[in-house]
Amino acid sequence: MKETPKIQQLNDLKAQTRLGGGQARIDAQHKKGRLTARERLDLLLDRGSFREVDPFVVHRTTDFGLDGQKIMSDSVVTGWGTIDERLVYVYSQDFTVFGGSLGEVHAEKICKIMDMAMKNGAPVIGLNDSGGARIQEGVVALGGYADIFLRNTMASGVIPQISAIMGPCAGGAVYSPALTDFIFMTRNTSYMFVTGPDVVKTVTHEEVTQEELGGASVHSEKSGVCHIAADSEADTLYLIRKLLGYLPQNNMEDTPFTPTSDDPLRMEEALNTLIPDDANKPYDIKEVIRHIVDDGNFFEIHENYAANIVVGFARLGGTSVGIVANQPAVLAGVLDIDASEKGARFVRFCDAFNIPIITFEDVPGFLPGTIQEHHGIIRSGAKLLYAYCEATVPKLTVITRKAYGGAYCVMSSKHIRSDLNLAWPTAEIAVMGPDGAVNIIFRRELEAAKDPVKRKAELVADYKEKFANPYVAASRGYIDDVIEPKETRPRLINALAMLSNKRDSNPAKKHGNIPL
Ligand code: HXC
Repeated sequence: MKETPKIQQLNDLKAQTRLGGGQARIDAQHKKGRLTARERLDLLLDRGSFREVDPFVVHRTTDFGLDGQKIMSDSVVTGWGTIDERLVYVYSQDFTVFGGSLGEVHAEKICKIMDMAMKNGAPVIGLNDSGGARIQEGVVALGGYADIFLRNTMASGVIPQISAIMGPCAGGAVYSPALTDFIFMTRNTSYMFVTGPDVVKTVTHEEVTQEELGGASVHSEKSGVCHIAADSEADTLYLIRKLLGYLPQNNMEDTPFTPTSDDPLRMEEALNTLIPDDANKPYDIKEVIRHIVDDGNFFEIHENYAANIVVGFARLGGTSVGIVANQPAVLAGVLDIDASEKGARFVRFCDAFNIPIITFEDVPGFLPGTIQEHHGIIRSGAKLLYAYCEATVPKLTVITRKAYGGAYCVMSSKHIRSDLNLAWPTAEIAVMGPDGAVNIIFRRELEAAKDPVKRKAELVADYKEKFANPYVAASRGYIDDVIEPKETRPRLINALAMLSNKRDSNPAKKHGNIPL
């Protein structure tokens, strides 16, 4: 059929918007190993589901010759689509238009879809690739950022917000992703920093590359700013799709349910022999997790940051759950500043979005030393404690081995409103480990002993017999039951069903004062 002139005009205009800053800049983007804003959306969303809004928006700036350079859609592509047939709102910054820089209308476009997402209760995914505030627009650009920051904060805990860093993200621009729930980065082609290498050199005389200062490795291993680092843009976008499968659309929705053929009554014999006889020998808690969850699928968050605690999503009998687990294979699973903060943030996310929390505990305590004390392990440990205490979602705890000291209280103990606390027969629940305990409470006796080594061995054996087991705690009801490790999966699935109508709340208040 022949197009009318008006329809022809519309189609020509739309074709023009799809070219962004033009073919030469698209080619330059590809040369850097990066996809364009629209190519990224094609990979992220279900095929053909993207609906763009504001393709005809242009900036209103006249300074610095910008009035002669109006590009439709400006430097960000916005709209909605679906991921596995569930609605999501998206924005994707277009580096081919003014370097993806954020000016007045760029910010307005993002705010518009964020407002829609809030009204309609669906996640927002932002794909960031930008030179920051549009320099020619001055304070208007800064105001645009602040408009977004406010919406990020208001949306926090209401709808999931996910940021992917696909190129530069510098200056104050980093704070929008930082306010969202999860930050993804692509290795070697993305970076985030508050001040770039040039400013760093001027101020501190350090010479660093962009990658060394704020690449995906730095942020996923050292700073913890990045939750998931992927090797390519396609991988980054695929992992965002996967993550969303574990999350509800908003805070009023129930935990997602994904049918599974994995038997809810499956006994896992291997678990009965997984814990080493020697309490000081490590084992991999991720192996324990994989044996228990549906189909062995565990979607880990912050995999390479504070690896002494493991957090991530899985499913049990089809229900999404958040898992927090001490990792005996790294630093004996000790809680330090980074691990405490990592755990606390994850617990709070799960609680905000009705995702039950399963805690696997094997923790020798908090990490001693001046570094930890001087950097505030007290405050950081309190964050984890606070997060667990205030969480009202179903909370299940399995003590696999050590539950010592303050860490016993913190790691979702019965005393702080955990719903079901199970222990394996290998559990050791006490104020501290046998060696340290004997040194303190029998110091005088050991000093006076004829054969201190022999006497100490006797006292340690005595202490172990008394405390290095789950039965003292169980006799007081601090542990609800001691189970064979192989029963863990059926017991947890049963408990989730038992708790499916759980209602619990915190006292009315404006907000609490978590020790930040
Ligand atoms: C306007 C910008 C821009 C910006 C880049 N461009 N950044 N235009 N405002 N902030 C334009 C360039 O002029 C160029 O236009 C095109 O985008 C591509 O930029 P290149 O420099 O050619 O690309 P590349 O070599 O890849 O370098 C990318 C870059 C660099 C590292 C991001 O452009 C850069 O350093 N930009 C400035 C970053 C910055 O300092 N931003 C302000 C941060 S402070 P043409 O027409 O040639 O294609 C900030 C405050 C936010 O953002 C505060 C919020 C509270």
